[in-house]
Amino acid sequence: MTINSGPGRYALFGHPVSHSWSPFIHGMFARQFDHVVDYKVQDVEPGDFRHAVINFFVQGGGGANVTLPHKPAAAEIVNDLSARAERARAVNTIVRRSPTELYGDNTDGVGLVTDLTRNLGVSLEGSRLLILGAGGATRGVLAPLLEQEPREVRIANRTPERAKGLRDEFSDLGEISASGFSEVEDLPWDVVINATAASLAGEVPELPPRAIGHDTVCYDMAYGRGDTAFMRWSAERGSKRAYKGWGMLVEQAAESYLLWHGVRPETRPVMGALERL
Ligand code: ATR
Repeated sequence: MTINSGPGRYALFGHPVSHSWSPFIHGMFARQFDHVVDYKVQDVEPGDFRHAVINFFVQGGGGANVTLPHKPAAAEIVNDLSARAERARAVNTIVRRSPTELYGDNTDGVGLVTDLTRNLGVSLEGSRLLILGAGGATRGVLAPLLEQEPREVRIANRTPERAKGLRDEFSDLGEISASGFSEVEDLPWDVVINATAASLAGEVPELPPRAIGHDTVCYDMAYGRGDTAFMRWSAERGSKRAYKGWGMLVEQAAESYLLWHGVRPETRPVMGALERL
């Protein structure tokens, strides 16, 4: 793969996207290497997405990140997909091979796994892992999570049929079960990952009361200032280890940076800066 190094124009396509932290994160990464990187957000409506991306690369764009709601559309635009992006059916990173040849990858799953295992010291191997939600966010991280060889994986969703659909689609990668929230075993799980959109509405999935115990690691893929509704709810149920998705955000960005520039930035200073903000 051709790697873009040195100065260049980069963009994050999303809708809405104005409150993104990605320009700040990529700015801090670039300073670690004395790179001159121009990284801007581009708020485009779904109907304009394809045209905007193609235009950006024709005009010399070096690489792009893609966020909601455009990740599945990005997978349709690129000429070639990584295996993990193909599985996720979603692209969050576009690499320019030539002005007309674009490569699509998905760094969300590896970002989540790196945050859990390296930053938070959570071992997924042999664990009982409960994933809440069966939408695009779950699809994007499922394969890298299964690679860690958890002992048991349950996908629980408000609409159980969607969870069962994902189970069937990923069953070649590991043992997965699927259900609604109320059928989840009422015993503490080792790790619970919230990949639903419930936090955004300040809501929490209705799990049985003892599914979360003192030692359960609760990870909300959503983030924002302060604790999320899922973090507060997990803490009320006794979890001493409730996290939001800041670290995943920074780690997936570092993987994008690596794809574009061939070097992986240090993530800890950036997470420290985000905490202080
Ligand atoms: P995304 O691409 O962000 O995952 P999505 O495909 O719309 O978006 O999926 C959103 C997920 O959040 C789904 O699992 C959805 O449950 P349903 O499949 O039953 O719709 C879940 N979700 C959204 N709001 C929720 C809520 N208030 N409580 C529980 N789950 C919710």
